[in-house]
Amino acid sequence: MPAHGPDTKPTDRHAVDDFVRGIPKAELHLHIEGTLEPELMLALGARNGVQVPYADADEARAAYRFSDLRSFLNLYYRGMAVLRHERDFFELTEDYLHRVHADGARHVEVFFDPQSHLVRGVPFDSVVAGISAALAAGERALGISSRLIMCFLRDESPRGALEVLDKALRYRDLIAGVGLDSAEVGHPPGDFAAVFAAAREAGFAAVAHAGEEGPAAYVTEALEALHVSRIDHGVRAIDDPALVARLRDERVTLTMCPLSNLRLGVVGSLAEHPLKRLLDAGVAVTVNSDDPAYFGGYLVDNYLAVSAALGLTRTDIAALARNSIAGSLLPAARRAELLAEIDGYVAAAEA
Ligand code: ADE
Ligand code: ZN
Repeated sequence: MPAHGPDTKPTDRHAVDDFVRGIPKAELHLHIEGTLEPELMLALGARNGVQVPYADADEARAAYRFSDLRSFLNLYYRGMAVLRHERDFFELTEDYLHRVHADGARHVEVFFDPQSHLVRGVPFDSVVAGISAALAAGERALGISSRLIMCFLRDESPRGALEVLDKALRYRDLIAGVGLDSAEVGHPPGDFAAVFAAAREAGFAAVAHAGEEGPAAYVTEALEALHVSRIDHGVRAIDDPALVARLRDERVTLTMCPLSNLRLGVVGSLAEHPLKRLLDAGVAVTVNSDDPAYFGGYLVDNYLAVSAALGLTRTDIAALARNSIAGSLLPAARRAELLAEIDGYVAAAEA
């Protein structure tokens, strides 16, 4: 790593690229169904006899122009219709792990949306078995540890969420936590207070999407009604200074996804993204890819895009990587080990 000036200044882009790729880090906000690249979608569509609405991968990518979250979700749910068998979920997860391994990830926390598969007649067991087997194989082959987080669809009924929680109880060894995703506006976190209480009672960790398109008040509500330990996105928290102070004081991790926010119009440009302001305010911000096959970039692409737009320093990048480990569901001893690895990496890069 070449020598640089004071670390308070934005660094040379090539050096940032090397530094970002190499630093040990975790991805904490990743929907496995959102890693379905058009090539795999077409191959699985052909294999499973499911019609894909695109002639080829270029046509799919050209269609990925979104005006908001809903316009994305429409294509996302349509695309995942090709996922029918355990093997499909295995291959999907395996592909993702290879990509994120190249991005220097040491640990990943993966969301899945079982309700969107159950409604198509795909058994819960096929979904969990396929993803989990690939995660276990990824740990053996690539050294990437993982946790699986089951999301409830907030634009479906709370009763539906309770039904899927009931299925998950039989997989307590494979599913570490529950989350809340899908269309946010008009679906406040408090609607799901009962199912989150039951999930926490059963020993699941709790996280929730909030403040992506919805207001800062939804972030507060997710903390108070769902007792989540992390907020997924939390972009709109910046609108409420008292909330920012609370997130800082309570060490609530925000799993932010810059390229997703750009592509869904949550921010007008990356230069306007609140990530750096929140980081400077002492909030435990992390960088993640959300649905990388749809938003044009995996983990490192997100770090690099936001670094370039906001002039992040190596100190900022190291803080983001540390936050990703500290905010993970890993046991304290493993977190400490990975944080020490980051310290060693940063020291070596500065030498
Ligand atoms: N499901 C997949 N990606 C999502 C996002 N960015 N927001 C809400 N739900 C999602
Ligand atoms: Zn998400």
